[in-house]
Amino acid sequence: RTLRIGLIPGDGIGKEVIPAGRRILEALPASLKLKFEFVDLKAGFETFEQTGAALPDKTVEILKNECDGALFGAVSSPSKAVKGYSSPIVALRKRLDLYANVRPVKSVMTAKNPIDMVIVRENTEDLYVKEERTYEAADGSKIAEAIKRISEKASFRIATMAGEIALRRQKIRESGAPSIHKSPMVTITHKSNVLSQTDGLFRATAREALAASKFSSVGVEEQIVDSMVYKLFRQPETYDVIVAPNLYGDILSDGAAALVGSLGLVPSANVGEGFAIGEPCHGSAPDIMGKNIANPIATLRSVALMLEFLNEETAAAKIYAAVDGNLEAGKLLSPDLGGTATTTEVVEDILRRL
Ligand code: NAI
Ligand code: MG
Repeated sequence: RTLRIGLIPGDGIGKEVIPAGRRILEALPASLKLKFEFVDLKAGFETFEQTGAALPDKTVEILKNECDGALFGAVSSPSKAVKGYSSPIVALRKRLDLYANVRPVKSVMTAKNPIDMVIVRENTEDLYVKEERTYEAADGSKIAEAIKRISEKASFRIATMAGEIALRRQKIRESGAPSIHKSPMVTITHKSNVLSQTDGLFRATAREALAASKFSSVGVEEQIVDSMVYKLFRQPETYDVIVAPNLYGDILSDGAAALVGSLGLVPSANVGEGFAIGEPCHGSAPDIMGKNIANPIATLRSVALMLEFLNEETAAAKIYAAVDGNLEAGKLLSPDLGGTATTTEVVEDILRRL
């Protein structure tokens, strides 16, 4: 099988870590019978300054018509609003209908208190439909309000994806990968005790989706989002798969990322029907760009995650194992993990293990 992968480095350290992603795909063993073709694509602030568009139409067209998946580095956003500029990854999610944001948060299994969870965040609606307005109250003071939109369709498909991810993780465990979980579990997160209609619909629909017979081996539980934050920090090891509406998912996934020590370790994927974009969770890190010290692991894990959604689980497992090998050995670590290795040295160690 030949997969065609779009490469969008973006800005800052995106330009240092995306080439590492390409290298690891090229280094996968020939026995997997997987070949890759790469297409270099533009997006980001630099692209905006050069062309007037942060996300050129050509990038979207090529991804849509020619690619099986893509890797996205990071883009810089100006701290002040710049006319005509808006985040290209947000636009890409919309234009390619990448309705799920999937973020695994995992420590090495040899850690003192290992954790291994994945947060599945709905990516198209909730408060992020950005339908806001500001108006004046009778006394002339300002009031601002925003629409929180939850649909049955979007809730159903995101919960179904969470169930499928839970099953896939179980399959990977049964193939012998070390894990702290014994059986698959999905935790539905909401605040339906207060928002009975919107979050109530999310909760009921997620329950219905996960009641399908294909998920009969998947445990389902619910957790109100505020107590979820408490438990996430007290007992993170209890979570397997968490499914949440857009806003709660956004907050929970950044919070969970803090549990594993460095942003440089945490991958994500933006997933739609038959298409996935792997994306490290970190930004363009201008403070360390150009020094060859960015941690490439978030990107390498994002490559593996993308492969999982393209049904190449064996290849993905090999990349995860090579990365874990590097972390467990603890000899060639980048500075964010307390080491002194360069980006290149970390990548080369992981390629050797692969
Ligand atoms: P950041 O994630 O770029 O950096 C936060 C801190 O973590 C910095 O000290 C940085 O050096 C460190 N860090 C991040 N990735 C690392 C890696 N791979 N290895 C080692 N250390 C790493 O977030 P920040 O500083 O808030 O934002 C910088 C720029 O990135 C801004 O323009 C922001 O808008 C953009 N950004 C873009 C995102 C994206 O494209 N998805 C996400 C977050 C921020
Ligand atoms: Mg966020």
